[in-house]
Amino acid sequence: MIITEPESINIKFENFSQTLKNEDIFEKTKRLDIVLKSGVLTGSEALGMICLDKLSPIMKLKEKNGFCHDVIMLGSNSYLNIANHPKVIRASRKALEKFSMGMGAVSNYAGICNLHRTLEEKIAKFYNCEDAIVFPSGYGTNLGVITALCSSNDIIINDSANHASIFDGGQLSGAKIKVYPHNNMKYLERILEKIPNDIKGRLIITDGVFSMDGDIAYLDKIVQLAKKYNCKVMVDDAHGLGIVGATGRGSAQAKGVLGQIDLNVGMLSKAAGGLGGFCASTKEVIQYLRLYARTYFFSTALSANIAGGLIEVFNLFEKDKAGRKELLEKARYLDDRLKKAGFETGHSQSAIIPVMIYDEKKLFRLYQELRYEGLYVNIVTYPATRRKLCRLRLCAMKDLSYYQLDRAIDILIKKGKQFSII
Ligand SMILES: Cc1ncc(COP(=O)(O)O)c(C=O)c1O
Repeated sequence: MIITEPESINIKFENFSQTLKNEDIFEKTKRLDIVLKSGVLTGSEALGMICLDKLSPIMKLKEKNGFCHDVIMLGSNSYLNIANHPKVIRASRKALEKFSMGMGAVSNYAGICNLHRTLEEKIAKFYNCEDAIVFPSGYGTNLGVITALCSSNDIIINDSANHASIFDGGQLSGAKIKVYPHNNMKYLERILEKIPNDIKGRLIITDGVFSMDGDIAYLDKIVQLAKKYNCKVMVDDAHGLGIVGATGRGSAQAKGVLGQIDLNVGMLSKAAGGLGGFCASTKEVIQYLRLYARTYFFSTALSANIAGGLIEVFNLFEKDKAGRKELLEKARYLDDRLKKAGFETGHSQSAIIPVMIYDEKKLFRLYQELRYEGLYVNIVTYPATRRKLCRLRLCAMKDLSYYQLDRAIDILIKKGKQFSII
């Protein structure tokens, strides 16, 4: 292998994803290792960082270099910190004691217990649907649903900001894929107008709350267009479930079209605080997915302790007692103050607040320095967004105090000035 000087290596993420001509499949891993060891800033500094305790507003982290410190946590998708709710812990523990750690089989082959079915029934009821299916992974939910329902005779129309699992599912399905610019309804209609009449299998897929922007899809308009052009609609509401809408039923409720979405997909790993994903729909569709969604059919079921805990989570969601309002008040507090300080924070309507940086090198350094100042936020760049739209991604958490939020804002302002962002 030719060892190139680190400085002269083009260090872009995508340059290590392919085997080069005449390389064996491991050589790219060695090329990457050289770059990472060189200390060239790549954003990998945090690789190997670990949490020393359960999720809380102040988290104990151990950095890769062994340094342990406390940070204000603005980087967790467990916005409601519901996994730490006493009722959820109690239910999860009870299920663990009864069914032990793992189910040992796929769902269709004796891999589920009464808790999985109860959870599915609760989810179906939550969306006022006939049935629901629970997958052991969120990513696998999108892959499974899309590949089961779509194939080469179909067309999928995606928002450009959809989650990677939606794009991957589309690609794997063999369907024709069209993409409209983020939330651009005019462009979406232009795509729909041009679909040949003989393509009857048409699926519009969108995130509900967009994972990197925190804004909500125009589902009212999408449903209207879907009716006009005979499409089905699938919404991945990973970040809207339990958070947005008048009673926390998500993006469809926020946009007044609850009950009009054909495939209600959501993740159990974000506000729900567990793991896995689900799809709620008609009885026939769910029955079909149990047999044809390969990420369900060929993957071991969710462990019972997670299913047990999630039942309690849905009990709290049903009663709208999971702390959604408090969370959103804090998210708006954070967003307003950052905007006033001069940060560009987009159009968040959820717990996710993007802070645009536009410069990847700056972003990596800033991320590191914020952590060492005592603030944890996520960084987002390629492949999660386009590199020129790179950003910090802040997640409000219900249990953060206003004192902690103010401290986080002070740190961001201090570093924002230092890095000439504001
Ligand atoms: C919109 C969206 N869909 C799907 C997923 C995948 O979910 P999970 O992390 O539970 O696999 C995520 C999580 O990153 C997401 O943000």
